[in-house]
Formats: sequence, structure tokens, C-alpha cells
Amino acid sequence: MVPALLILLKATTLQADLLPDKKFLLLPPVNFTIKVIGLAQVLLCWDPNPDQEQGNANLQYHVKINAPEEDDYETRKTKSKCVAPLHQGFAASVQTILWNNGFLRASSWVSAELKTPPGSPGTSVVNLTCITNTVASNPTHLRPYKVSLRCTWLAGKDAPEDTHYFLYYRYGSWTEECQDYSKDTLNRNTACWFPTTFINGKGLEWLAVHVNGSSRLTAIKPFDQLFALHAIDQVNPPMNVTAETEGTHLSIQWEKPVSAFPTQCFDYEVRIYNTKNGYVQVEKVTTNKFISNIDGISKYSIQVRAAVSSACRAAGRWSEWSQLIYVGQEEQRPLAEWFLIVLTATSCFILITFSLICRICHLWTKLFPPIPAPKSSIKDLFVMTDSGKAGSTETEVEVVSYVDEPGFEVLESSTF
Ligand SMILES: *[C@@H]1O[C@H](CO)[C@@H](O)[C@H](O)[C@H]1NC(C)=O
Ligand SMILES: *[C@@H]1O[C@H](CO)[C@@H](O)[C@H](O)[C@H]1NC(C)=O
Ligand SMILES: *[C@@H]1O[C@H](CO)[C@@H](O)[C@H](O)[C@H]1NC(C)=O
Ligand SMILES: *[C@@H]1O[C@H](CO)[C@@H](O)[C@H](O)[C@H]1NC(C)=O
Repeated sequence: MVPALLILLKATTLQADLLPDKKFLLLPPVNFTIKVIGLAQVLLCWDPNPDQEQGNANLQYHVKINAPEEDDYETRKTKSKCVAPLHQGFAASVQTILWNNGFLRASSWVSAELKTPPGSPGTSVVNLTCITNTVASNPTHLRPYKVSLRCTWLAGKDAPEDTHYFLYYRYGSWTEECQDYSKDTLNRNTACWFPTTFINGKGLEWLAVHVNGSSRLTAIKPFDQLFALHAIDQVNPPMNVTAETEGTHLSIQWEKPVSAFPTQCFDYEVRIYNTKNGYVQVEKVTTNKFISNIDGISKYSIQVRAAVSSACRAAGRWSEWSQLIYVGQEEQRPLAEWFLIVLTATSCFILITFSLICRICHLWTKLFPPIPAPKSSIKDLFVMTDSGKAGSTETEVEVVSYVDEPGFEVLESSTF
């Protein structure tokens, strides 16, 4: 009896040892704050709860972003940076969590929020778009490539006429205000140009753009937008495209575009257009050379465009096509020119002949009336009376010729 009781006792204490946290209470963090530390960038900070039973080093935090866009993640730190548009405010919650043998235990939540910045509805900018472009800078410079940035937008539909918009960008820890604006018809800024920026052409961070404004009539709502560099980068076209033919053999070469990315980071498309039959051939290439067969009797136009390959960056846009270059038989162009010359000459000849004919016809009508004039005495009478009535000589002539003809006919029929 006694040993049985002992075994039972032992079993219950064992169970209590296995689950020591059954009564262990997880407390939420304290002093949770959200602080704006840059354009479209906040820092979330909290402290561990001072009343939390110590001795458990496995405490973690579960952060939940509630606005502007839902997101959640876990961290062991007590600080967290977030990048998000802030023009609609920002809200987040955090709780203490503990993973134990695959089971999650969590405290209650603590929350904080940033209020929506003030401003009248409909006054913030709309349709904000930005593109970047890489330009070569001084090769001796620390950075051989510079990135330019151009943004355009439209004034909000309810923005007063005196609204003045200001654009700022942030890349990493760099923030700059626009110095070079273009204006709409009401003299409001609607575009901005940064010839050089602190943007890293190969960077992976978000580009944050902030447009706020001022007006004497009302508060202008600010607007934030984040851009992924790969999506807005306008890649330069390939350089120095050359092509040569040898019989039916066409060989095209080019150099990589002006870009911070190295040679192996580019995909190309070659476009070969047969000007004789209108046939277009477009080929994808990953090297700087393309060889093709041609018919040897046509003239071809060639263009190449580039894009940063997915091996080096997320898929972006194609560059513009390079300048047209032509190869192949040159006979087509002189032929076309001859055709044009002949066509022009023929047209001129026809025009001159036609105008000559017209002149002759005109002479005829002028010469015609005097011939029959002396032949009929009745007609003379008519002319006399008619010129007396009508003022213009033209009507006079017409009447004469009209009257004249029946007279002739009568005369002729009477003679036969
Ligand atoms: C919370 O903030 C207050 C005031 O800043 C500070 O006195 C206190 O020490 C903080 N609590 C913890 C646990 O750090
Ligand atoms: C601005 O954007 C809206 C919606 O995104 C679109 O319907 C409109 O056509 C755009 N306006 C202009 C002028 O691009
Ligand atoms: C616009 O935003 C910039 C950067 O945050 C700030 O320095 C400036 O005071 C703001 N201007 C207005 C008119 O709100
Ligand atoms: C392209 O050609 C020009 C002139 O032929 C030359 O100066 C330039 O160095 C070439 N570009 C490259 C990248 O080699």
C-alpha cells in the first residue's frame, strides 16, 4: 500500500517538473513607442516587462504591423526599423512570446500608432511616378557611375491654385530635396529632376519619395511612395553597335550599356529587319555578339536593346532600342530615289501640259466670239440692245454667242 502511494506521489511531482511553465505568466512588453526616423521610415522600440519572472532567456517578441499594410514577424531584439508610406498613419502591436517544445505561449498585446498627418482630402499629389537612369561620371571619381532621378505627378483635384509642392527622396540614410522643378499651367510644381543622387545603381533598398506642400488656403496632405529600384530603372541601350556582312553571313557586335552592373549581368534582344520583304527577326542573346544568316540580296536594319538579367537583379524593364544601323545591298535606296525623281518629273510635266491646255482653251473662248460677229445683222441689233441693258461685258459675250449659234444653224440649213 505504502510503496504504491509513493509511486503515485513520484509520478505527480515528475509531471510538475515536465511542465514547469503551467503557471508561469508571460507579461507584455512596456514602453512601446513608434518614432519617425526618416522619410517613410519608423523605429519601433519597447522594453522587456520589468515584472517578468527572470531566468528564462528564451523570450522573444512578435511584432504585428496593422497599418498601412498588414505584416508580422518575430524578433529577439527590442528595436525594429520599418519602411512604409506614412501618409495614412502607422499602427503596430507587440507581444512577448515563448517557444517551448514546439508550443507557442504568448502574452497580451501592447499597441501604438502614428496619427494620419493633417491635410484636406484631395490636396495630395496623385499619379506619382519616378524613373532612374545611370550616367557615366568622371572615371577618376570615387563612384564611376551616377544615378539620376526624375519624378512626375499631378496636383490633387482639390488642391488650391496657389499650392506649392515639395519633393524629397530618401535612399538609405541620404535624404535630398528637389532643386529643379517643372511646373503646370497654374505654376504648380508637377515634376522634379535630380541630375545626380545618392542612389546606388546596384542597391536593393527601397527608394522612398515624399511629396508635401503648402498653400495659404488649406493644409496640403503629404504623400509617400516606395519604389523598388529594379522596377523604375531605365536601363541605357547597348553601346557601339556594329554589324558587318560577308556574303550571307551577318555578324553583329555591341558593348554593355552605361551601368554599374558588370558585363555578365545583361540580357539582350537583337532585332533584324529585312527592309525588302518586311520580315522581322528578334533574338534573345546573353553575349555581346550575334551571328545570323541573311539572303545577301536585301538591306537590313539592326537594333539591340538590353535588360539587367535575373541573375543580378529582379526582372526590370528593357532599355530603348539602340540607333538603327543598316547593312546589306545598297541598291534599294538609289532605286527608290530614281523612282521619286521620275515621279516628280512626270507630275511636273503633266501639270505644265495641263496649264498650257487651259491657257489655250481660255484663248479660244476669247478668240471665238469675234469670228461670227460680222456675219449676222440680227445679232448686231441684239448686241446693241443687250449692251444697253447689261453692265458687264462677260454677259454680253455670252448672250452674243448664244444668240449667234441658232442664227448660224438657220443660215446653214437654209443654204442646203
Ligand atoms: C519606461 O519608460 C520610462 C520613462 O521613459 C522609464 O522611466 C522606465 O525605466 C521605462 N521602463 C523600462 C522597463 O525600461
Ligand atoms: C492617374 O491615375 C488614375 C488611377 O491610377 C488613372 O485612372 C488616371 O488615368 C491617371 N491620370 C493620368 C493623367 O495619367
Ligand atoms: C515637407 O517634408 C520635409 C521633409 O520631411 C520637411 O522638412 C518640410 O518641413 C515639409 N514641408 C511642409 C510644407 O510640410
Ligand atoms: C565606343 O566607340 C567610341 C568611338 O568609336 C569609343 O570612343 C568608345 O570608347 C567606345 N565605347 C566603349 C565602351 O568601348
